[in-house]
Amino acid sequence: MKTILITGGAGFIGSHVIRLFVNKYPDYKIVNLDKLTYAGNLNNLKDIENMPNYEFVKGDIVDEKFIQELFEERQFDGVIHLAAESHVDRSISNPTEFVFTNVIGTVNLLNSAKHVWKDNFDGKKFYHISTDEVYGSLGDEGMFTEETGYDPHSPYSASKASSDHFVRAYLDTFGLPTVISNCSNNYGSFQFPEKLIPLFIHNIKNNKPLPVYGKGENIRDWLWVADHARAIDTIYHDGKIGETYNIGGFNEWTNIALIKVMCQKMDEKLGREKGKSEKLITYVKDRAGHDLRYAIDATKIKNELGWEPSLQFEEGIEKTIDWYLENEEWLDNVTSGDYQKYYNEQYKER
Ligand code: NAD
Ligand code: DAU
Repeated sequence: MKTILITGGAGFIGSHVIRLFVNKYPDYKIVNLDKLTYAGNLNNLKDIENMPNYEFVKGDIVDEKFIQELFEERQFDGVIHLAAESHVDRSISNPTEFVFTNVIGTVNLLNSAKHVWKDNFDGKKFYHISTDEVYGSLGDEGMFTEETGYDPHSPYSASKASSDHFVRAYLDTFGLPTVISNCSNNYGSFQFPEKLIPLFIHNIKNNKPLPVYGKGENIRDWLWVADHARAIDTIYHDGKIGETYNIGGFNEWTNIALIKVMCQKMDEKLGREKGKSEKLITYVKDRAGHDLRYAIDATKIKNELGWEPSLQFEEGIEKTIDWYLENEEWLDNVTSGDYQKYYNEQYKER
């Protein structure tokens, strides 16, 4: 039985990856290592928590000794590393936390894998999950390919870029069998409502202002989270050591167009008069260093590994809105307590 460590499995994307692996691979032991920060939530995994091939371990990837002991004890065959501080706005108000988790945490995992696997890397893989934000910002034309140079602008993307460089350095220097993927914006169930789509669904439902940064003209390339999880499965099993794969939805939207679609759909679903939710749109102070446009060229993963997005955005956004409306308890739980404090701080001067 292979034992695979998945870090950050109680978060948004991680929970979808854990669910996929636990259900699809009964002969793998899946160990979910998560610190359970504000973004980590074991309720995201209720449906699989009692599966015999699943185990949760609470712990911090920044804790070097703990990580070292965990690797020595469990002798993992592979690592899929998702744990991170992931929200750009939080990286602007507290950059240091991003250096600890995203950079030092990643280096701790690399060191432990290198130490425990020694020189016997046969059948081993260290898979690092990264973001398209490391490539910086595009103008009107072009897309990010795997050859695009790094040009991060936020403390979040700078910390992810740094961790990507460490992963490549461990491959080049020590021969550690690594692979990296860089994905565009994900959407779907279990996303913490600090991110645009769940935040705005929550606010529309509660008739609260929709804080659009700047003019709402920034462009993001949206991918259904379960498609990202499938891509991670594909790359973990078939991706070539030393390679980088871009993952994206070929699905670009300006923020304002996306928000208007959400408003229209929610008017229908909530039985509101047409145009009512759009009135909640409030233009607020722009995000500092706000990247204008992201767009991923996902040709390589399609041509080399046969992966492509499965779901059209119109269907995906519909399903996503339905999920948040049907899972009020989940949303109420994560928006109680500290969330209110964060929300008031984040939006007070905008
Ligand atoms: P998330 O914030 O929802 O979840 C992060 C998880 O990591 C949480 O469960 C949290 O408890 C855990 N964690 C944080 N610090 C930790 C630490 N020190 N030790 C152990 N666990 C810790 O994030 P997400 O949106 O699911 O993103 C997952 C990964 O995918 C990240 O590496 C992110 O950079 C990357 N990514 C995200 C997106 C996106 O659109 N959300 C797109 C591309 C790449
Ligand atoms: O591109 C991949 C990245 O996508 C991931 O690496 C990050 O972890 C993830 O958080 C996401 O980053 P973004 O900054 O693009 O996502 P966010 O949902 O925070 O914002 C999406 C867009 O919406 C962005 O242009 C900022 C804007 N926005 C966001 C919020 C929270 C607003 O206009 N108002 C808001 O209140």
